[in-house]
Amino acid sequence: MMINGTSKVCGVMGCPVEHSISPMMHNYYSEQIGNDMIYVPFLVQKNAVGEAVKGAFALHVQGINVTVPHKQAVMEYLCELDEGARAIGAVNTLVRTPKGYKGYNTDGEGLLRAIKEAGMDISGRACILLGAGGAAKAAAYVLCREQASRVYILNRSPEKAQALAEEMNRLFGRSVCLGLSLSDWGSIREDHCLAVQTTSVGMYPGPAQAPVEEPAFYQKLDMAFDAIYTPMETRFLKLAKEAGAKTANGLGMLIYQGVAAYELWNPGVKLSDEVIAGARELMLRHLEGQAR
Ligand code: ATR
Repeated sequence: MMINGTSKVCGVMGCPVEHSISPMMHNYYSEQIGNDMIYVPFLVQKNAVGEAVKGAFALHVQGINVTVPHKQAVMEYLCELDEGARAIGAVNTLVRTPKGYKGYNTDGEGLLRAIKEAGMDISGRACILLGAGGAAKAAAYVLCREQASRVYILNRSPEKAQALAEEMNRLFGRSVCLGLSLSDWGSIREDHCLAVQTTSVGMYPGPAQAPVEEPAFYQKLDMAFDAIYTPMETRFLKLAKEAGAKTANGLGMLIYQGVAAYELWNPGVKLSDEVIAGARELMLRHLEGQAR
């Protein structure tokens, strides 16, 4: 890959950012399709988000992904917000405009495409969302928008689940979400559910735990999606699989939020399934290498 004076610069800002595999993915896309763009990591401390955005604009950076812990804090430094990002209340992608950066949230689209790719469906289905943090907001938005019949939001802190449920019910104008405590899963009467796991429980290097341990919970599920991809099979997915559910980890979501961002930064570019499959292969090899 040749970097020269015309190369478009994009990157990811977060803290920490060293573990990010987004540079691998985006630079692979540019290499494969012959696009003169490079993508680099930007380590940005919590108190430096505003300066970072201003500096990036001055340096003519074309696009930036925003990751933990800046997805909400970055919003006040943008000139415009996409409708979905506004509704979700978090931004993961900045796109340069003449006036400043416009904020988007491609996490929801990434999740939706990954769920569909895994052969899972949302429309008319009862869904169980575990977690009520940033990732859960994007998931709740997509589940409601895609016509889930009901979304049970389970969280360790039930007041956060209730607040998210109320926010979504207001946004969509129907009582579709219900906020509950994790331990209240037994009050869900429905079966054949799709579960979307967005808590950090079970993520490497933490212990191999699941937010709900009781095997009976998993009997309610036909499908289970975990936003975590390290490890590739969390205890949550293992328990769901043992109960006979179809499962998928978060690698697809990571890949497709990246595809959506890449296409926003490069108008007219549509990444092919073949190129996306190549990136997945590369990332899988990297993650498997790490796990060894
Ligand atoms: P993200 O942006 O990745 O969603 P976050 O906003 O910090 O991260 O949210 C983390 C989620 O994981 C929250 O739902 C959190 O529950 P609380 O709202 O009760 O804090 C959940 N979480 C983190 N550690 C947990 C644990 N040990 N048990 C259960 N839930 C946990």
